[in-house]
Amino acid sequence: MHVLVVDDDEMVRCVLNEKLSGIGYEVTDACDGQSALELFRGTVFDAVLLDLKMPGMDGITTLREMRRHDPDVPVIMVTAFGDVATAVEAIKLGAYDFTEKPPQLSRIMMTLKRAIEKAALEREVRNLAKTAEESAALKAACEKLKELDKMKTAFLSSISHELRTPLTSIIGYAEIARQKYCKLLSSITPNDQNMSQVLGQIDASLDILVSEGHCLADLIDNVLELTALEAGTADMCSDDICLESVIHGVAAEFTEQFTSRGLDFSWEIEADLPSVVGDSRRLSRVMRHLFSNAVKFTEQGRVSCSARKAQGRLLVSVSDTGKGIPGALHRAIFDKFSQIGETLTDKPKGTGLGLPICRLIVERHGGNIWVESEPGKGSTFTFSLPARRDI
Ligand SMILES: Nc1ncnc2c1ncn2[C@@H]1O[C@H](COP(=O)(O)OP(=O)(O)OP(=O)(O)O)[C@@H](O)[C@H]1O
Ligand SMILES: [Mg+2]
Repeated sequence: MHVLVVDDDEMVRCVLNEKLSGIGYEVTDACDGQSALELFRGTVFDAVLLDLKMPGMDGITTLREMRRHDPDVPVIMVTAFGDVATAVEAIKLGAYDFTEKPPQLSRIMMTLKRAIEKAALEREVRNLAKTAEESAALKAACEKLKELDKMKTAFLSSISHELRTPLTSIIGYAEIARQKYCKLLSSITPNDQNMSQVLGQIDASLDILVSEGHCLADLIDNVLELTALEAGTADMCSDDICLESVIHGVAAEFTEQFTSRGLDFSWEIEADLPSVVGDSRRLSRVMRHLFSNAVKFTEQGRVSCSARKAQGRLLVSVSDTGKGIPGALHRAIFDKFSQIGETLTDKPKGTGLGLPICRLIVERHGGNIWVESEPGKGSTFTFSLPARRDI
């Protein structure tokens, strides 16, 4: 604790310095108000012992200046015997207490100790009040953010609904046009090379129109599904589901993709798996997202799927021999719009909604989803679901 002793009487300064240093205080002294103020402005003191009557700048003026510079440091006035009126005046100006001369050391020490403790307590109270104020402000900001997030979700959802209807017509008409065009193509023989080139370009454009239309429709469906799951407005069925048929159904949809990418596919489903209660359309969606990722991020090798029971739960895994995922991102990839890779250079095709949708669906079924993976060594995504009956 650092104390500033201000007194024009050298003897008083010496005695106080010696006694206070003896009990562990660090003491700096000043012989007048002016030099005391200079010290006070340049150093942090825990308390000041200030003589009231000094030549030049008196104690009251010095006190006033000190208060202006730092109103929190406790100042104890040392007054001549009988000058209580001025001492009271000093207390009105913010002095902590006063003690009469000749200074009684025991009283000074007691007063100093109390003054320093009180200042520390006041500081603590101020900090607590500030923290409380800050946390109230933080809470308000958090509520505001939640509100904005809800508004954004509602906006996204309504825009997506608006886009979905015309897009369905666009895809439908594009598909009809492509069918009719194919029929037409088969019935005509182009009479020059230029014409057959143009016909080929129209054919390719119609293909692109249909496939990009489907990609856009998938994206809109994902946004609608995610917003409904996040808002808790998604209607979930409670069917009795045989996971084996869900897996077979979705795997069949992917057979062509596995073959065209040269990937082996295998599955291993434990016999007599218990059923689960839930929404089979949504559990198929989870499988579809996991298979689609496995295909998308695997250059060569194989994709496999397994289902087994363990401790009253069913565990379904989709493994691949693809590029793998660094450990630091194992949690982040389940957040929406989170994709691995530089946005401008190697961002994967897609939007980063598949895994967050899987997570929300699995959680709505009372389960968990996680990944085990290492870069270059492939990935295994597993989700668990409560089994319908005891196993
Ligand atoms: N099997 C996998 N192997 C390697 N990386 C994966 C695998 N599955 C997911 N990832 C990484 O996690 C990211 C998030 O996956 P998610 O399915 O959410 O989004 P996406 O596939 O990029 O886009 P979307 O599913 O919306 O079409 C992917 O972009 C990819 O970086
Ligand atoms: Mg995906």
